[in-house]
Amino acid sequence: MTVTLDLPSADATRAFAAALAGELRAGDLIILTGDLGAGKTTFTQGLGAALGVRGHVSSPTFIVAREHAAGVRADGTPGPGLVHVDAYRLGGLGELDALDLDSSLEESVTVVEWGAGLAEALTEDRLEIELVRPRGGPVDGTVDLEHPEVGNRVATVRGIGARWAGVDLGALLRTA
Ligand SMILES: Nc1ncnc2c1ncn2[C@@H]1O[C@H](COP(=O)(O)OP(=O)(O)O)[C@@H](O)[C@H]1O
Ligand SMILES: [Mg+2]
Repeated sequence: MTVTLDLPSADATRAFAAALAGELRAGDLIILTGDLGAGKTTFTQGLGAALGVRGHVSSPTFIVAREHAAGVRADGTPGPGLVHVDAYRLGGLGELDALDLDSSLEESVTVVEWGAGLAEALTEDRLEIELVRPRGGPVDGTVDLEHPEVGNRVATVRGIGARWAGVDLGALLRTA
């Protein structure tokens, strides 16, 4: 199932992540793709907040993967941990294997930024989310669409494998 939604602001992207978080559980894998500035880290921050994980979710720039311990979800129930990976810095799947994330993957929701073509081998069940920032010339003299704070994003969400076969992503994300 593929769902497309408009994200007019960073807050909308965080709300989208929060809506998804209600469905997420330990062992789930999300592969995030999109250009620099598309909102991958913003999405992951919204996810971390909704799952209630410990620590500050930030761009994993100098480290390849950051593990956030499980905490309490916004609704008061215990949440999964969060493993946040920046695959852009990985040379290949061998390096992802070398991180030895297997045990934490089972206890966490794993989000891989720039993961397309690399992280798929981790599991057959996954959510693929592509964030696209429209580019183009200014629509008028006052709007600079190249500025990261300007312009909406479009998200495409695709559930793959048995895990997502019975999940109505459209209904889930309509609340975002
Ligand atoms: N609709 C939107 N969704 C996500 N981020 C947005 C949006 N509109 C503006 N932004 C801003 O764009 C930037 C996205 O940066 P970031 O999430 O780090 O992107 P990435 O991790 O994909 O490189 C942030 O400064 C964020 O506030
Ligand atoms: Mg990022």
